[in-house]
Amino acid sequence: MDSILQQIDVGDLVHADRVHRSVYTDPAIFDLEMDRIFGRAWVYIGHDSEVPEFGDYVTRTMGKRPVIMCRHTDGEVYVIHNSCGHRGAKVCVEPRGNAQPFQCPYHGWTFKTNGDLEAVSMPRGYGESLDMSDPGLGMRQLPKVDNYRGFVFACLDEDAESLDTWLGPVRQSIDDIADRSPSGKVRLTAGIHRYVFRGNWKFQLENTVDMYHVPFSHESTLNRQGKQFSRRKGDDSGSSISDAGAAAKRWEQREAWGAAENGHSYTGHQPVADKKRDDPIYQSYVESLEGKHTPERLAEVLAPRRHNTAFYPNMSLQALNQHVRVIYPISVDRTEIMVWPVLFEGVPDEMNQDIIRGLNVTHSAASLIQTDDLENFHRCQEGANAENSEWVWFARGLDTDHKDNHGDIINTGTGELPQRAQFVAWARLMAP
Ligand code: FES
Ligand SMILES: [Fe+2]
Repeated sequence: MDSILQQIDVGDLVHADRVHRSVYTDPAIFDLEMDRIFGRAWVYIGHDSEVPEFGDYVTRTMGKRPVIMCRHTDGEVYVIHNSCGHRGAKVCVEPRGNAQPFQCPYHGWTFKTNGDLEAVSMPRGYGESLDMSDPGLGMRQLPKVDNYRGFVFACLDEDAESLDTWLGPVRQSIDDIADRSPSGKVRLTAGIHRYVFRGNWKFQLENTVDMYHVPFSHESTLNRQGKQFSRRKGDDSGSSISDAGAAAKRWEQREAWGAAENGHSYTGHQPVADKKRDDPIYQSYVESLEGKHTPERLAEVLAPRRHNTAFYPNMSLQALNQHVRVIYPISVDRTEIMVWPVLFEGVPDEMNQDIIRGLNVTHSAASLIQTDDLENFHRCQEGANAENSEWVWFARGLDTDHKDNHGDIINTGTGELPQRAQFVAWARLMAP
């Protein structure tokens, strides 16, 4: 199949109000995304609580590039290429483990947990020419790695801006969830929901910050009174998400925000019945936070303003059913999702178990909500093959977008501002 890139420039695929459907179907565009977007952006790799002990590691990808996040003897977390310095074989294939040291299965070279070459098998065969300190023979560290409150990001572009600058206002979403933990730390150690869907990776990214679809796609989660299931103890009534009347107005009134350049975005909070949560465990949790924050910050922390935050290009962090979700593109029409419950450190086990239970209902492969969206992604992928409109539209709310003090864009509720912000970043990162 010929690529549309033989006819037009990649920048012409994105307009202010629409994108060309080939961004979801053209394998050459997918390859370029893996190269440029995942080669230029700061990409979330993992959380440092996943590798607590020396030698602990997890394997991840940045686009198509295999990487390893591991804890070294100096106590620091490193991100290194998952490729042997000898002939390039992938060294680790397990999702997680403990290595002291890493050993390549092909010819047995070994590497320290910071990626340095440790030993070469049968070294006498190399004579004088072997320079063990040559980083080119190791599993090289990524040029930029940074950790914000336990969330580890890496970037392949040596000239990239700092992580702090890249994240900008979405750092606050990490602060909000970490500050809800009495120790200021969260743990992503409860296991992972993991599944693959038959659709392009961007469908999931767009959907994480799409409030327009909720009353329609998730209608089947309502009971006869128009209420959703209870999400947590104390929330007796469940959310109201119908497209009629007051509920629809509330969805429209929620805030949406999009970064001017880097593609991050968030949607406004869905009120939960926290104030009614009068069980003793929750009350003792609130008391444990009282000494940590000012009364104003405590109120903010307990009722976060943001619902879902999408960290461009492929991570989202949710405050309601608290989790980290990472989107791993496999091919132009196949994507893997991994979802981690975010647990608090220093709270009763029952509270963390409640968080895990809530997420089983909303974001597991067999959940009530995510399954609706996976169906949407399949349909978007199949529909993109029809010779109907060449364009996919994101015009909703475009004429009412306005700038905040930082030049970022804000709007209310159910507009398609977050998706427009994502494609502004897409076009910028995809440029030659
Ligand atoms: S490819 Fe790894 S030791 Fe040869
Ligand atoms: Fe949804």
